[in-house]
Amino acid sequence: MNIILIGFMGVGKSAVGRLLAERLNLSYLDSDELIEETEGRKISEIFAKEGEDYFRGLETEVIKTLIEYDAFVASTGGGIVLREENVKMLKEIGPLILLTARPEIIYERIRSANDRPLLEQGGKLGQIKELLLKRAPIYNKAADYTIDTSDAPVETVVEEIIKYVQSKS
Ligand code: S3P
Repeated sequence: MNIILIGFMGVGKSAVGRLLAERLNLSYLDSDELIEETEGRKISEIFAKEGEDYFRGLETEVIKTLIEYDAFVASTGGGIVLREENVKMLKEIGPLILLTARPEIIYERIRSANDRPLLEQGGKLGQIKELLLKRAPIYNKAADYTIDTSDAPVETVVEEIIKYVQSKS
């Protein structure tokens, strides 16, 4: 079994993914980490030197390698669903669990980080709202199941995902 976590920056994909993998005894993978490993440089550097399109191409390549693996939970970069072919391939790998959060919560979670090239200095609230609005229909269309993590502890989100995947198997 594989489970794919999708959603905007700061919705908790990594924290949830790690615990979920532990609970289900699955491996944990992160598309951003895989890209940084194969490229040997940080996402911010790839964006700065090669641009967003190049990065999106790397995301597609990572998905192609994921198809060869089994028994993992994968967290994905917030923009991975922007390419339709990515969504199609991801759906062949496992259910797409969409994590969401209110923009104010996302802002609080990511404002001290400076590793999100699409949001300068961790992201202004206005920027987050604008990008969320643009992407919401794409996330919703791709999702097999959606959980709002705004007020839910990681533990609760993980339990809800486990219930969902068990109800499907
Ligand atoms: C991006 C999200 C980031 C990373 C890159 C682009 C996006 O991943 O892939 O900075 O377009 O939303 P996280 O969602 O893990 O922060």
